[in-house]
Amino acid sequence: MKNNKNILITGGAGFIGSHVIRLMVTKYSNYHIYNLDALTYAGNLENLRDVENASNYTFLHGDITDEAFINGIFSEYQFDGVIHLAAESHVDRSITDPLAFAKTNILGTMILLNAFKDLWQNNWEGKRFYHVSTDEVYGSLGETGLFTESTSYDPNSPYSASKASSDHFVRAYGETYGLPYVISNCSNNYGPNQFPEKLIPLFINNIITKKALPVYGDGNYTRDWLYVIDHAIAIDLVFHKGANHETYNIGGFNEWKNIDLIKLLCQQMDEKLVRAVGESEKLITYVKDRPGHDLRYAIDSSKINKELGWSPSVTFEEGLSKTIDWFLENKEWMDSITSGAYQDYYRQLYK
Ligand code: NAD
Ligand code: TYD
Repeated sequence: MKNNKNILITGGAGFIGSHVIRLMVTKYSNYHIYNLDALTYAGNLENLRDVENASNYTFLHGDITDEAFINGIFSEYQFDGVIHLAAESHVDRSITDPLAFAKTNILGTMILLNAFKDLWQNNWEGKRFYHVSTDEVYGSLGETGLFTESTSYDPNSPYSASKASSDHFVRAYGETYGLPYVISNCSNNYGPNQFPEKLIPLFINNIITKKALPVYGDGNYTRDWLYVIDHAIAIDLVFHKGANHETYNIGGFNEWKNIDLIKLLCQQMDEKLVRAVGESEKLITYVKDRPGHDLRYAIDSSKINKELGWSPSVTFEEGLSKTIDWFLENKEWMDSITSGAYQDYYRQLYK
């Protein structure tokens, strides 16, 4: 097996992808890391400023649904491994534009799988395709129970249906062509660099700017939250140590009802912003529910814990506090997102 490898990471300018790129570029000097990203509204190369000049890092601007482009880069760089994160990732957007989700998440994944299969033609030694997926493929839990790796797929939103479909295609390429793959299904992430359309960064920004906090429905929906750096560490482990053709669930055994999480966030923000106790909670506004809103997600991550020795490194209170601090210390990051400046700059650079 060769020592120096070319690793393709897709979606590296996004939230989770940027943390994975940083970890891989700094930890593995024997890898050349190629970050392939289309720089959609969710992609922001500011997230990678600290590693962009590393000698083992290259950014490739392109779309995973562009078959000619993908085939070209696979033939040019002969990727030994792929860590595939590029996706349309927000449930609310999938409700208004489901086709965009089918295109990137299903077709884009298939184009990558095909390129990988055609490049290696059964010479699989030392090769691996890793699909980073979500627990939302399992659908919704009732008041009790946990998702395990053998829970049946039962997706409810166009987002989760597109991720479920791409998981199935990855498995099908494994069964049909022998393509070496691993899949992980992770719970809700939070942390630095998350795009402020998702619950935690949106609410942090709204609290700072004293805007309403729109709580969908009665707020009694439950999510299982994981700090993004713990997810990146898990991805590194699964990529290197996960068994071939296996799936790993990743989650923090950290369930929160939305309304309880929002109240905790309000309390921490009041302290950090030196505001009166209860001031931020006054911004809570109950709004119309999301259609098809999944009641509860909760992950049983005992397989990755037992087999790969992974467990989260921070408690939720610590992770949330670090996340708030990051947003308070990086106000210009949020300002460039909300003004749109982050896109203008890189559109010019990569047009
Ligand atoms: P994100 O929306 O922050 O980033 C997605 C990235 O993919 C962006 O940089 C975007 O420019 C890029 N991209 C989108 N379409 C593309 C295309 N057609 N070609 C090339 N690049 C494209 O997403 P995220 O939250 O970082 O999620 C990353 C992955 O992890 C996704 O596959 C998502 O399904 C999965 N995941 C996310 C969570 C979560 O809580 N955020 C949880 C579990 C799994
Ligand atoms: P989100 O961050 O969009 O992640 P997902 O839908 O993938 O779980 O939402 C997390 C939870 O917060 C979900 O139950 C929907 C809810 N939510 C709100 O109540 N208000 C909001 O403005 C947003 C974005 C989400």
